[in-house]
Amino acid sequence: MEIIKVTNYEEMSKTAADYIITMVRQFPDATLGLATGGTPVGTYKRLIEDHQDNKTSYKKVTTFNLDEYIGLSGENPQSYRYFMDSVLFNHLDIQKVNTFIPNGTALDLEKECLNYENKLKNHGGIGLQILGIGNNGHIGFNEPGTAFSSNTHIVDLADSTIKANARYFNNIEEVPNQAITMGISTIMQCREILLLASGEAKADAIQQLLGKEVNEHFPASILRSHPNVKVIADEAALSAS
Ligand code: GLP
Repeated sequence: MEIIKVTNYEEMSKTAADYIITMVRQFPDATLGLATGGTPVGTYKRLIEDHQDNKTSYKKVTTFNLDEYIGLSGENPQSYRYFMDSVLFNHLDIQKVNTFIPNGTALDLEKECLNYENKLKNHGGIGLQILGIGNNGHIGFNEPGTAFSSNTHIVDLADSTIKANARYFNNIEEVPNQAITMGISTIMQCREILLLASGEAKADAIQQLLGKEVNEHFPASILRSHPNVKVIADEAALSAS
C-alpha cells in the first residue's frame, strides 16, 4: 500500500483527479469504479473542469458505482444515482448507458446483486477503483464483519453509518437502513485502487487502516493485501498515524 501524503482536501482532490485523467487519456475505454460521499466530490469537480478546459473525453469510458440505498429510486435526490448524475455524469460527455449503479428499487433485489456482479465480470472488471472510507472502516457499504469473500450483496447499515450519512437527509428517519454494495471480493478484484481520505474525522480510520492486522472487523484492512493500492490522505487524516 503506497501512502501519498498531501496537505489538504484540495490537494487530495487534484492528485486523485490527475491520476484518473492520465489513465483516461491513456486508455479512453477505461472502466472506472466510482464512490459517493463527500470525499470524492472535489475530485469529480476537477474532472469536470479538465473536461471543459482540456477536452478529456469520457465517451468510451464505463463506470460502475460501489453502492446504492435500497428503496430510493434514481429520481430521489438522496439516491446515489441522482448524486452521481448531478455531481459528475451530467457534466461529462459520458454515455449514461455506460454508467452502472445498483438498482435499489429492483423488485428482486437478490437477482439485482447477481446481475450487477455478472455485468461487471462480463465487462472485464474494473481498472481503477476510487474509494472513500467510513469511520468504522467500511468500504462501499461493507460494514464490519462482512466476509472478505463477499460479492455484490444486500447489507443492513450499521447505526453509526446511518448517523454519519444522516447529514445528507432531512432527518435520520429518512436514511434507508439497507443498501446494495459491491462486496469485498468484488472490490479486491479491481486492478488498481485509490483510497481517498481527508480531515480529522478520518484520522482514526486511517490509523487503523495503516496499523491494523487484516481483519474482517475492519473491512478496509483487506486492502493491505491488494497488490496495487494508493492511499491519498491529507495531513489531518494522517494526524493519528
Ligand atoms: C458512505 C459510502 C462510502 C463512503 C462513506 C464515507 O457510507 N457508501 O462509499 O466512502 O460514506 O463518506 P464521506 O466521504 O462522506 O465521508
